[in-house]
Amino acid sequence: MFHHFFGFVYLSAVSQLVSRTGTQAECPVQLNPQRVVVRYNGSVEVNCSTLIAHKGMGWEAIEGAVPMTRDKIIAWRVSHLTEWDIEPFCFINHEEQCQVQLPVTIYKTPDSVSISIVDHRGPMIEGQQYKLQCDVHDVAPVQYLTVKWYKGQTLLDKTTFTEDSKTPVNETATLLIRPDRADDGAQYSCEAELDLGAEGPQPPPKRTSGSLNNELYYKPKHSSSTETIIKNDEVTLNCTVKANPAPTYTWHSEHLKEEISSSVLQSSTLSPGNYTCTATNSLGNDSKVFIIKSTAQSLFCTL
Ligand SMILES: *[C@@H]1O[C@H](CO)[C@@H](O)[C@H](O)[C@H]1NC(C)=O
Ligand SMILES: *[C@@H]1O[C@H](CO)[C@@H](O)[C@H](O)[C@H]1NC(C)=O
Ligand SMILES: *[C@@H]1O[C@H](CO)[C@@H](O)[C@H](O)[C@H]1NC(C)=O
Ligand SMILES: *[C@@H]1O[C@H](CO)[C@@H](O)[C@H](O)[C@H]1NC(C)=O
Ligand SMILES: *[C@@H]1O[C@H](CO)[C@@H](O)[C@H](O)[C@H]1NC(C)=O
Ligand SMILES: *[C@@H]1O[C@H](CO)[C@@H](O)[C@H](O)[C@H]1NC(C)=O
Repeated sequence: MFHHFFGFVYLSAVSQLVSRTGTQAECPVQLNPQRVVVRYNGSVEVNCSTLIAHKGMGWEAIEGAVPMTRDKIIAWRVSHLTEWDIEPFCFINHEEQCQVQLPVTIYKTPDSVSISIVDHRGPMIEGQQYKLQCDVHDVAPVQYLTVKWYKGQTLLDKTTFTEDSKTPVNETATLLIRPDRADDGAQYSCEAELDLGAEGPQPPPKRTSGSLNNELYYKPKHSSSTETIIKNDEVTLNCTVKANPAPTYTWHSEHLKEEISSSVLQSSTLSPGNYTCTATNSLGNDSKVFIIKSTAQSLFCTL
């Protein structure tokens, strides 16, 4: 019973070693941590340790190398890591020499993130398609970069990158949009996020562009094309409609003599009949017919 217990502990310790160091499990050294994510020009420290008696161990690396020693724990340490291609490994001379490589990811947050519209200046027009561009400058590694597109606080889309590069690159992401009148005043922005996994900084570093708030042009559109009004002193004929640029108004009716450019008429001044109002801006026009009925007419209708 006692022996069995010890056998179990030994086996579980071995299987843990195998699973943690993968294919290099035969090499009797342990790295702690086993993988590092370091900011460019940041500091790093990784221990290499062994439980066995050996003839020497050390760290090989272009920065922070540790010459062979008889110690059982040695640290690879760099205070300002600036070698993008660094591939440190810890070696040990046991029966023969073996080594375990340390995966190092060096990241750099972008110097700038900016948003623009491709080949367009000035107001956007409802229903037309535009291409937004997000420029991310000097970022690494690009395979961990995600560009997120926002309209206000709403996430519109995400762009990721398939290329592989250890050193910083400039990246451009694009997004097609077709704004409608509901997007009047919308602010578009993009955000570059470096999601480096559990070993990386938490929360993942991100940088947001300024916001793009080009004016949006759209033509007048009434919610209904006719409105029936029972003549009453307090009722108004309200033709006011949202449009950009602001619309101008014209009224037509056999009862109207002079031109009216106001968007609102008081029914108290008007005789029963049809009054057509047209709202017009540089993109188009939309008309609405107000039908004024006299109190007698409406009584007649309901009877
Ligand atoms: C690294 O950071 C130090 C300050 O911490 C700074 O003096 C040095 O210029 C930086 N080197 C590079 C290559 O960015
Ligand atoms: C490395 O080992 C030393 C001594 O055991 C310890 O003080 C240090 O915290 C360790 N560093 C890491 C990164 O585990
Ligand atoms: C990124 O763009 C900047 C400014 O345009 C330029 O100086 C730099 O060389 C570019 N970097 C790469 C990797 O192309
Ligand atoms: C006309 O309608 C608009 C919007 O529907 C509203 O803002 C405005 O106050 C109205 N004007 C009058 C005089 O009722
Ligand atoms: C007023 O408009 C209504 C609906 O558009 C139409 O049926 C009616 O014939 C018009 N009346 C006059 C006098 O134009
Ligand atoms: C309204 O637009 C139509 C074309 O969509 C045009 O034929 C008409 O003349 C315009 N009316 C006014 C009053 O501008």
